[in-house]
Amino acid sequence: MPESFLPGGFVNAVVRVGDTVRRPASARTAFVRDLLRLLEAAGWGGAPRYLGVDEQGREVLGYLDGHVAWEPRQPAAVSSDESLVAVARLVREFHDLTAGTPLAGAQEVVCHNDLSPKNTVYRPTVVGGELRPVAFIDWDIAAPGARIHDVAHVCWQYLGLGPSVGDDVAEAARRVRLIADSYGLPDRGSLVTTILWWQDRCWRGIESAADAGSVAMGRLRDAGVVQEVQRAYRWVAGHRDVLERALR
Ligand SMILES: Nc1ncnc2c1ncn2[C@@H]1O[C@H](COP(=O)(O)OP(=O)(O)O)[C@@H](O)[C@H]1O
Ligand SMILES: [Mg+2]
Repeated sequence: MPESFLPGGFVNAVVRVGDTVRRPASARTAFVRDLLRLLEAAGWGGAPRYLGVDEQGREVLGYLDGHVAWEPRQPAAVSSDESLVAVARLVREFHDLTAGTPLAGAQEVVCHNDLSPKNTVYRPTVVGGELRPVAFIDWDIAAPGARIHDVAHVCWQYLGLGPSVGDDVAEAARRVRLIADSYGLPDRGSLVTTILWWQDRCWRGIESAADAGSVAMGRLRDAGVVQEVQRAYRWVAGHRDVLERALR
């Protein structure tokens, strides 16, 4: 069967073969397998199916039809309030399915750890309707964690928290609140701190992996991602009061 390269990946070479996707296996493959099987057994449609390992040792996953929002310019429906609410509810669903399972270990849930539009499949949920999030892909850094970690990552990535938000900080703050409310996050007191924690961790992680010889991380650094994330950190830190007030 012919293989076609799938654009939109930032780390891995991902190809489509028929109704499947092949990704390089990693140290996390067994965990991802168990997680995707747990979600499938629960009848949850928000993640690809795990189908095994191919003759080249690659992970085989089910191909999810739809629009993956990896390009900078996106249809308005992708960033609409309705889509944000739906993302938050999807996150809540898989968190609840993993809570209390051996996969979550001593932590609250299994976190995806890289939730963003570029790892989200959108589809019109009714014929002729607007695009809405229906599934998350790229589960390879999923791990036991706290609910607030994924919620904070969602706020950062789906709202693009950083200088590109522009002057309407109040509107961004309203949407942070919308995400927390739609998820049903009980304790928001440390949400903004957790967004900053992610941003800090992200640029430091790219830097140290690039220094250690990671080609993918070196590429991100060369593309200016470290400075971009540092600017985003400073933006969130600078608007912390407004963001936190909206959450109270
Ligand atoms: N299960 C899937 N169904 C449909 N498309 C997929 C699937 N997995 C990956 N893709 C496509 O491949 C691209 C790269 O995959 P991804 O898992 O995000 O790789 P990376 O780890 O490099 O970010 C995605 O942007 C998406 O377009
Ligand atoms: Mg990805």
